Amino acid sequence: PAAALLGWYDRQARVLPWRAAPGQPPPDPYRVWLSEVMLQQTTVAAVQPYFAKFTLAWPTVAALAAADEGEVMAAWAGLGYYARARNLIACARAVAQSGGAFPDTEDGLRQLPGLGAYTAAAVAAIAFGRRAVVVDANVERVVARLYAIAEPLPGARKAIRARADELTPDERSGDFAQAMMDLGATVCTSRAPRCLLCPLAEWCAGRRAGAERYPVKAAKQAKPLRQGRAFWIAQPGQVWLVRRPGKGMLGGMRALPDDGWSARGDGSGQLPLPGNWRSLGTVRHSFTHFDLELQLMLYSPEDWVSLGAEQGEWWAIDRLAEAGLPTLFAKAAALVLAS
Ligand code: ADE
Repeated sequence: PAAALLGWYDRQARVLPWRAAPGQPPPDPYRVWLSEVMLQQTTVAAVQPYFAKFTLAWPTVAALAAADEGEVMAAWAGLGYYARARNLIACARAVAQSGGAFPDTEDGLRQLPGLGAYTAAAVAAIAFGRRAVVVDANVERVVARLYAIAEPLPGARKAIRARADELTPDERSGDFAQAMMDLGATVCTSRAPRCLLCPLAEWCAGRRAGAERYPVKAAKQAKPLRQGRAFWIAQPGQVWLVRRPGKGMLGGMRALPDDGWSARGDGSGQLPLPGNWRSLGTVRHSFTHFDLELQLMLYSPEDWVSLGAEQGEWWAIDRLAEAGLPTLFAKAAALVLAS
């Protein structure tokens, strides 16, 4: 199956800015690493403009290591999972400090800040041609179908990994990994897989039973709904923005001040609300482990001071797009600007 898949990749590989053409020497490890960090939990389509922006602003790992943290966080705004951006800076600095070159083995890469098993394997294979077993959600789906693995996820991960290891060839392991990803993204899709176009169809056990049944997934728990409040504190032409603490939800990002919804589990942490305020409406946002209903409240600066204002800065409302607000707060701001 590996040979059939590589043959398919030679003809069908997606052309992506962080990739070498099939069979060509590997691309710049910096670009491979940056793309893999961005692509975790995020689609190729969403990543493309961010990858272009980052490589233009910081074309090398040395440039990224020397970058202003706030600027990097702002450039990441909208991509989500902001711990990735904090780790990105830490990793660039670690690489720069140890001479400027990425380690060229999976074990070496694993030592860097923020590089988990997946990223280390992907970079080792794609940037350094090392044989490594690269399993992301796309690969998981392809393998679960190919072997009709009946055990549900997440328990099936071990079995899937073992099967992926068997499949992985000794040569062209970077092309193989990306071929599996492309197959998962374009042919072996979650819904309505295009089995007639699949180069692995003749080996696929899942196809006989209906590939869509795999991977089997354990029943999901419903996401809890949390409630929170954010504050719109304005003076003519300006709004008060804060910088969130380095750790935790949306850590290190610029934001509207809020009532600490992220630290509470139950949505019960009510603030005393003296002064004059008015509700501007609510926005909804889905995080990995909960949904949030955020009520946006309009405060006057005087009333805000009486609440004990956090550290922050006045920001020009007509330059809000440059503030690098994460999507939750960009939605909240859009609510005000539309009203
Ligand atoms: N998803 C994660 N890494 C990828 C890559 N290198 N190419 C395409 N999709 C990916």
